[in-house]
Amino acid sequence: MRVLITGSNGQLGSEIKELVTNYKKVDFIFKDLPELDICNFKALQTFIIDHNINAVINCAAYTAVDKAEEESIIATKVNNEGVLNIVNALAKVNGKLIHISTDYVFDGDHFSPYKELDPVSPIGVYGETKRAGELAVINSDIDSVVIRTSWLYSSYGNNFVKTMLRLGSEKENLGVIFDQVGTPTYARDLAKCCLDILAFSKETNINSKGNLYHFSNEGVASWYDFAISIMELGGKNCKINPIQTKDYPTLAKRPQYSVLNKSKIKIDFKIEIPYWRDSLKDCIEKIKN
Ligand SMILES: NC(=O)c1ccc[n+]([C@@H]2O[C@H](COP(=O)([O-])OP(=O)(O)OC[C@H]3O[C@@H](n4cnc5c(N)ncnc54)[C@H](OP(=O)(O)O)[C@@H]3O)[C@@H](O)[C@H]2O)c1
Repeated sequence: MRVLITGSNGQLGSEIKELVTNYKKVDFIFKDLPELDICNFKALQTFIIDHNINAVINCAAYTAVDKAEEESIIATKVNNEGVLNIVNALAKVNGKLIHISTDYVFDGDHFSPYKELDPVSPIGVYGETKRAGELAVINSDIDSVVIRTSWLYSSYGNNFVKTMLRLGSEKENLGVIFDQVGTPTYARDLAKCCLDILAFSKETNINSKGNLYHFSNEGVASWYDFAISIMELGGKNCKINPIQTKDYPTLAKRPQYSVLNKSKIKIDFKIEIPYWRDSLKDCIEKIKN
């Protein structure tokens, strides 16, 4: 089996790169811009055919949530048209796709964890383009899995954890939003989940057409709780003060509540999910070392 990881220099792609040494029966190829652009259908299709690719884990995405409000064309190109290109290229070789989507397809107007088939209603451009990408996969006939995740962080790339650790060294006080609630997710745990699903499908020979799943770490937090934990585990003496969303204006609106229900992925693939604070501790230890 030969698996292509697109967008491989991002948070998730980098975590997959680190983990694949444990998956010896599979051949992995890692590609990102400028070498392989998912928006260039011809190049993508040629690559997939020439390298006998059987599966793709698509980690490529336009992920700048605020900038997307002003760059909807490029966000659509990557998050929708790029995904459609992967689907169409895989259709020619009967290949499998694991695609990643987001909790931002929901409007946040909920009081209990979102299930996969709850109605979506994105409130920003990023969420809209990611929803279009989901539909490109779901409406196709290829063997595919779409995994929605939330609040991704890693020792790689730029993310909330690394920003807080930096600000924690620079500032004595910091205001962080307490009225947006979700679940932080260590990209390493999502990477393992993607690889486990791939291994499971290979072992069982089960095909799934556009099956939707939710994956985040276990538990619930506001950005305020998340920030406090980062300061504690990172050994920073910076006081975090709770502020409201209205006091921290951003270009994009974000859902107030985006906790995901993960029962389906746990049952179907027998996946065990760590508690968010345990994974955060692991990530911060890694960053420190
Ligand atoms: N980050 C989060 O908080 C979060 C939350 C929920 C869901 N997700 C989803 O989880 C997935 C992984 O996110 P992530 O945080 O790992 O993303 P990331 O760190 O932003 O990585 C995305 C990678 O894709 C590359 N890329 C962009 N356009 C491309 C193109 N046209 N062709 C090929 N590669 C391209 C990027 O390159 P450049 O850096 O050069 O643009 C980057 O290396 C994405 O689908 C994202 O939407 C993320």
